[in-house]
Amino acid sequence: MLVGQCVECHRAEKAKGGYRLDTFEQLLKAGDSDEVPLVAGKPEESELYELISTHEEDDRMPKKADALPEKEIALVRQWILEGGKFDGPDAKAALATLLPQKEVQSPEKYPRPIPVTAMALNGDGKVLVTNGYHEVLSWDPETGKMRGRIAGMPERVLGLSFIKGGPLLAVAGGSPGRSGEVWLVNYARPAERKRLAQLRDCALSAVSTPDGSVLITAGADNRVRAFALPEGKPMWDLEAHADWILSLAMSPDGRHVASASRDRTAKVFDVKTGTVEGTFNGHEVAVLSVAFSPSSDQIISGDANGEMHRFKPDGEGVKDTTMSPGGRSEVLGLGFLNTELPVAALGSGLVISMDPKTRKKKDVLAQHDDRLTKMCIGGSLELRRLITASHDGWVRITELTSPAGGLPGPLQIKETRRFIASPGW
Ligand code: HEC
Repeated sequence: MLVGQCVECHRAEKAKGGYRLDTFEQLLKAGDSDEVPLVAGKPEESELYELISTHEEDDRMPKKADALPEKEIALVRQWILEGGKFDGPDAKAALATLLPQKEVQSPEKYPRPIPVTAMALNGDGKVLVTNGYHEVLSWDPETGKMRGRIAGMPERVLGLSFIKGGPLLAVAGGSPGRSGEVWLVNYARPAERKRLAQLRDCALSAVSTPDGSVLITAGADNRVRAFALPEGKPMWDLEAHADWILSLAMSPDGRHVASASRDRTAKVFDVKTGTVEGTFNGHEVAVLSVAFSPSSDQIISGDANGEMHRFKPDGEGVKDTTMSPGGRSEVLGLGFLNTELPVAALGSGLVISMDPKTRKKKDVLAQHDDRLTKMCIGGSLELRRLITASHDGWVRITELTSPAGGLPGPLQIKETRRFIASPGW
């Protein structure tokens, strides 16, 4: 009840009335009124009980909402009468992390295809993972057949990253507006798993260094977090943006991570320390996607108006050159086909390559009937494999070869497989 009705206004980031109850330890400390919140055995002397049971609507908690149901008020009274004891393992732990985890059974067959909100391809290109409802789904990208399901995951899975060097998968997600989670799962033995973080809102993105030593996550709590792998020990944690962080990109050299935020900026951080190396302010609307060039020395970012910009990782050398893929279609995903050719996944359902010289659309590489949601690029420079996914649940696999001696030559584009990434479809 406290987690659902009160923590929103009474936590570290926002302690209304100078009062926090996001941990039991904090709940015991008086706020600005200096009235003791909890007097063991004496509900009528406990400010917390006084404020949930008062008939003075202006004073009553939860503030500006209906009174709690009588049954819940009675339960709090009973609890205080019995001594107001805490029976959890750690009075300093966030109350939200102490709630029992509900085991949710995912349906065997989904009633309808679900939007692909997260996708990752492992190093050898043999395993593709996507989001399910309370689960992660794994697929064989050659055949489009489901390989397995990892249950007990967040309600929404919004970020996935394979960790190089081990059978580990990072999973980011949560329940929108209520909670966020970051997990590290052994995808060969899914029972081996560890929850790295419990957040107040969804984790939207997860990326890891090419050597598998650091995991970075970010999301709707505007924070970027780094964890040392394989243990998952927290390294740094930063309130990095003024609004949701919608996506992250890792530099191929593993030294920098870039973020795209609804606050209209993109930022670059040092992976080891979390130091902000540069902020790019060239966008006029929400920044939706970012990618590093293969040489790690350039970043492209795309926004909700369909504009793309290129800049350097160090704040100083920021270069603002606008590229527009044509139309005002949102740039939802970005990547590089080779050292020169940026690829953009658009709200219109098109995946296009961009000519870096003319700054215009070059080739259409793939086409979906709904807005693009995720894109992975794998394979070698001779044969690139492009995996794209859309809101209607479709995943398309496209092979790109260049008969005239390697990329970037004229491209041969061939869709080799498509399937709906939902069980039973
Ligand atoms: C929408 C925001 C909001 C919610 C939700 C909310 N509170 Fe409050 N709370 C406040 C504000 C603002 C104050 C400061 C006093 C005031 O304005 O009435 C306050 C003050 C308090 C205080 C007194 C702190 C002090 O010592 O001054 C307690 C105790 C308290 N709230 C408990 C709760 C409990 C328990 C819940 C959940 C049932 C809750 N609050 C939900 C906004 C909220």
